[in-house]
Amino acid sequence: MNADSHDPEAVRAGSTPPGDMSEAEASAELASLAGAIAFHDARYHGDDAPVISDADYDALVARNRALESAFPGLVRTDSPSLRVGTPVASGFGKVRHAKPMLSLNNGFTDEDIADFAARIRRFLSLSDEDELALTAEPKIDGLSLSLRYEGGRLVQAATRGDGAEGEDVTANIRVAGAAPLELAGTPPRVLEVRGELYMDRADFLALNEAQDAADSKIFANPRNAAAGSLRQKDPAVTASRRLRFFAYSLGEASAPLAATHMESLAALGAMGFSINPLSRRCTDVAGLLDTYAGIGAARADLGYDIDGVVYKVDRHDYQERLGQVARAPRWALAHKFPAEQAETTLNDIDIQVGRTGALTPVARLAPVTVGGVVVSNATLHNEDEIRRKDIRIGDRVVIQRAGDVIPQVVRVITEQRPADSTEFSFPETCPQCDAPAIRPEGEAVRRCTNSLECPAQRLEWLKHFVSRDAFDIEGLGARQIDQFVSLGWVERPADIFRLAARRDELATLDGYGETSIRNLLAAIEARRDIAFERFIFALGIRQVGQATARLLALHYDRPEAMLAAVGPDADPEATTAELTAIDQVGDSMAADLIGFFANASNFAAVEDLLAQLSVIPPERPAENSPVSGKTIVFTGTLAGMSRAEAKARAEQLGAKVSGSVSAKTSYLVAGADAGSKARKAAELGVTVLSEDDWLAMIDG
Ligand code: IVH
Repeated sequence: MNADSHDPEAVRAGSTPPGDMSEAEASAELASLAGAIAFHDARYHGDDAPVISDADYDALVARNRALESAFPGLVRTDSPSLRVGTPVASGFGKVRHAKPMLSLNNGFTDEDIADFAARIRRFLSLSDEDELALTAEPKIDGLSLSLRYEGGRLVQAATRGDGAEGEDVTANIRVAGAAPLELAGTPPRVLEVRGELYMDRADFLALNEAQDAADSKIFANPRNAAAGSLRQKDPAVTASRRLRFFAYSLGEASAPLAATHMESLAALGAMGFSINPLSRRCTDVAGLLDTYAGIGAARADLGYDIDGVVYKVDRHDYQERLGQVARAPRWALAHKFPAEQAETTLNDIDIQVGRTGALTPVARLAPVTVGGVVVSNATLHNEDEIRRKDIRIGDRVVIQRAGDVIPQVVRVITEQRPADSTEFSFPETCPQCDAPAIRPEGEAVRRCTNSLECPAQRLEWLKHFVSRDAFDIEGLGARQIDQFVSLGWVERPADIFRLAARRDELATLDGYGETSIRNLLAAIEARRDIAFERFIFALGIRQVGQATARLLALHYDRPEAMLAAVGPDADPEATTAELTAIDQVGDSMAADLIGFFANASNFAAVEDLLAQLSVIPPERPAENSPVSGKTIVFTGTLAGMSRAEAKARAEQLGAKVSGSVSAKTSYLVAGADAGSKARKAAELGVTVLSEDDWLAMIDG
């Protein structure tokens, strides 16, 4: 890993080839990748405010996938590859999707696309003569929706949410005018139509002008404007915005619309949906790449934002067989466009202090338009990055932004370097509290050593505490924390639960009427009952993301047990041994946990907080399939399906699939011509199943 693993925002994809890594190294990197990807998912889907480029995000996901395929035994229960997006935001009802809403894997190079097609051919055991038709269509940069029709009428509209459960936005979609409320023709009794809600660039610009005139929120880009317009508590506001929708796939359907994707799109068009006119059917990779080039060339003139081209297997029966790997279908791939770039001058470098004390340099730029958005700040990541790219104040630089994330400085245009450009000397003390800022050996990030005594760290810590994946208190976000901290009302988390005593003072603040105070205090009261894993995550301990928080909650069950184990009276050696015995908790994570609680003021803050709360123990996962938790090995030639397909089925049912037989193997499934593995299984007394036995077991 080339970056610090403590702060999810600082994690970058590592570059050590997985083959050169030990299990412990891979496990540590997977842990920090899980934390980082969850963090960025929440910024992107939950807050509509991503903080890294799509390209960097994609690199994290790709790295996670590469490590998981090299170390299948290390796939985490909370692996990012097992989920999509982020849990639903509060404020709207929840909707469980009849079929999960998936995400897409990404490809970038021509080779990635050729590999994708070859992989599908192998999976389906197609010969070179067999036709494999794929479709290519623009990847719309909006937000995906699932629209449910019963008897031809719209009965429900939901956002993707975490893929399994989204927000109910039916009332807003009914008035948005983006999709038909009643379908033309004779649609199936139940039909879920999926597609992308988006805003045209022209409508986006007009909306921002109106917002500006009214002193209201300006949207960074059309995607955020579409999301913001949809997530309105008052549907009348949504109705006043011009939203559009392209249909591109189906969820649950009581009867199939057609045998292929292209025909399904045509059927959806006939029912009244907008279908993207640039969709094409291709019979080879060259055709896909041609379509990609054509759509790329048309991109600037489309009038709406797209960020790539999506390829899909045309035949639905093939799609069905290919199924999905965790969060994404095997039958589709997003071919992303490269990020947009521009040149500007770097006027200054400022230092921001984050929750865990990380000092992050930020470039202040002469404002420049990149892909329709004015950019004046860019992240510089850390001091090595500034040195590596030899970035100096006054330099002309190339910046890039992809999607709607914080832009990055790509490189300096050294030929245009002014004579008076100055090197930046990275501070060795915290710019907020003057405490020493230390950079431990082997880490990329310098940190303020003042812990929560540093006002900047404390402020970020409190913001983390109320964030969506933590306490998630409606009406109490970063803005209110800023305000309450500056008033001296909130110094540590427990103070939030004492705000009720400040009812009269609250009433003196701008924007706090009787109702909003009542709502705020009720929302705070409601959070006195809190799930143990949320509680742990909310503490904002370095390296302890949602994934680790869940593991710790499962391990300790109750906060008292955890505090007894990690508190100041505990023996650090024994505690380290106990913590590292938890699957996926390594030495450095254990050290951070112990370090957090060893700090007396942190420990006191946690005890103070606990006195305000009633913590709910974690729910344990249920075992529900005959093979869940079992380890399966396949060998020999299977008659009914390829090995990959068999493996996918088994994994879907909760089994682990391994390549070699050992004493831990539960069943060996032996096809024709099974060789040494069958012998080894017999030696070890492992149960050997024929293909038919296996099918009977999983189908029965
Ligand atoms: S198909 C199971 N087609 O991209 C396949 N997705 O990065 C589901 N998107 O969640 C997606 N344009 O929000 C598909 N023509 C298109 C798309 C598209 C945009 C979005 C969609 C998806 C995301 C994945």
